[in-house]
Amino acid sequence: MNIEKAIDAVREGFRDYQLAPHYSSPRVRMQHEDRRLTIHPGGCVNLGTAGVFIHKERFSFHNDSQQYTNAGKRVYVAYDSETAKLQSIIVGSLPLFPFDNAENHFATETAITSAVGTDLIARNDCKILTLLGTGRQARRHLIALSAIRNLEKAKIYSRSRENREQFLETMQSYTDIELTLCETPEQAVQGSDLICCATGSNSPALLGKWLEPGQHITSIVNSNKGVKEQAGLSRPRREIDDLVVQKADIIAVNITEQSQIDEHGDLFEPVQRGIINWQDLTEIGEIIAGSKQGRSSSEQITLYKQNSDQGVGFMALAKLAYEVAIENKIGVEI
Ligand SMILES: NC(=O)c1ccc[n+]([C@@H]2O[C@H](COP(=O)([O-])OP(=O)(O)OC[C@H]3O[C@@H](n4cnc5c(N)ncnc54)[C@H](OP(=O)(O)O)[C@@H]3O)[C@@H](O)[C@H]2O)c1
Repeated sequence: MNIEKAIDAVREGFRDYQLAPHYSSPRVRMQHEDRRLTIHPGGCVNLGTAGVFIHKERFSFHNDSQQYTNAGKRVYVAYDSETAKLQSIIVGSLPLFPFDNAENHFATETAITSAVGTDLIARNDCKILTLLGTGRQARRHLIALSAIRNLEKAKIYSRSRENREQFLETMQSYTDIELTLCETPEQAVQGSDLICCATGSNSPALLGKWLEPGQHITSIVNSNKGVKEQAGLSRPRREIDDLVVQKADIIAVNITEQSQIDEHGDLFEPVQRGIINWQDLTEIGEIIAGSKQGRSSSEQITLYKQNSDQGVGFMALAKLAYEVAIENKIGVEI
């Protein structure tokens, strides 16, 4: 599988969502204490595919950050939506990144969605990337964001020096971009064009007071009501503070309804506090389909709250994987 083709596929999935939102549904998450089951249903009219993506994890909160304690193999079930024939059952996340080992091989699709939304509103001339986080998603976001912008340098921060050094050691051989480690998040954000928050954090890793005109932020942490009601976290998870949201001239999301249903802290709390309204959000499908505008000046601060991968993106990827499998004669006919 090729990253560029995966990005193109997910973009088309979100275009389809805009054309027929009733053929899809936001992510459904069921939770008991630290156990959760998640289903992403999606139908893509133009791509001619529909089905579900399902996953199961257990997690813990430690050091103000989320960790997965168990994560089962993901499963895609995709139908040809014209003939209604079952097209594929794919077990496991797609093998998009060469550095993922078997233990870490899940949620590879997230960085692809992030690249789609970021591409729509970040400045075209972004050269310097900030990465907050040094885990699975940070590694993948470095590669996926490099596919949409001509990046020259990435400034990396996470709280542990050991994790930062490990990131550098692992990732420098997978990229030509100059990787620089930073001692503080503020230092990492200074002078950057594109800020990617790919942390496990429960409280803001990025503060609005550090932002500069023209910067773009992509943030991937999402909370859900179940985390408060079942897992005992006293407040929703946050990755960015209210001032980031307040300073953003454009706030893009995958699907607004997802943040309303799940009460995602990074958007739900600013809405509750009257800092933004739900109507202020732009869905990425609206920009892709041309019904809403993206960035209109190089000075604007833009925010893409990547508020959960969606069924339409997974089904677009399932179709691509099916085509790759047919072409390369891999897989088993059932
Ligand atoms: N939007 C979506 O659809 C989607 C899908 C899947 C996952 N996610 C989210 O992706 C996040 C990351 O997942 P992952 O698999 O990459 O987790 P991971 O491998 O455990 O990595 C988490 C990273 O966050 C860093 N971190 C924690 N708090 C931080 C802070 N305040 N500032 C900077 N770095 C911090 C940790 O490093 P240090 O300990 O060194 O700080 C670690 O490198 C999770 O929170 C998950 O909710 C989103």
